[in-house]
Amino acid sequence: MPIITVGDQQFEAPAEKRLVLALEDAGIDILHRCGGYARCTTCRVEFQVGEPRRMTEAEKNRLQTDDQPLYGKVRLSCQVLCEQDMDVTPVYQVATSEVDNPGKRPEDHMTPEPVWTSVDY
Ligand code: FES
Repeated sequence: MPIITVGDQQFEAPAEKRLVLALEDAGIDILHRCGGYARCTTCRVEFQVGEPRRMTEAEKNRLQTDDQPLYGKVRLSCQVLCEQDMDVTPVYQVATSEVDNPGKRPEDHMTPEPVWTSVDY
């Protein structure tokens, strides 16, 4: 199983589990305000190690059309599957934001239905 590292925490995640759910289920504080639909970008993480080369079109479109383009800087953890060891840093958390909950729990399967493309950076 892939090993996920967040700061000084490390845990195993089932292969192909959505990264946002792996983080949340490990007790990591991370927002997912749109419920995992590649809309809100609050589930964004910075990758230190293990950034996947594949990317959903929904994620790519969202990261490229943000007011301040995020493409190449962060990934949307609701659009990433645990397919290898990863070291990530969640950017937005309940503890450091003005919201009182992370948002509706994303579904277990990828939403929207993934159409895979790849990063080109
Ligand atoms: S973009 Fe909203 S939860 Fe991932």
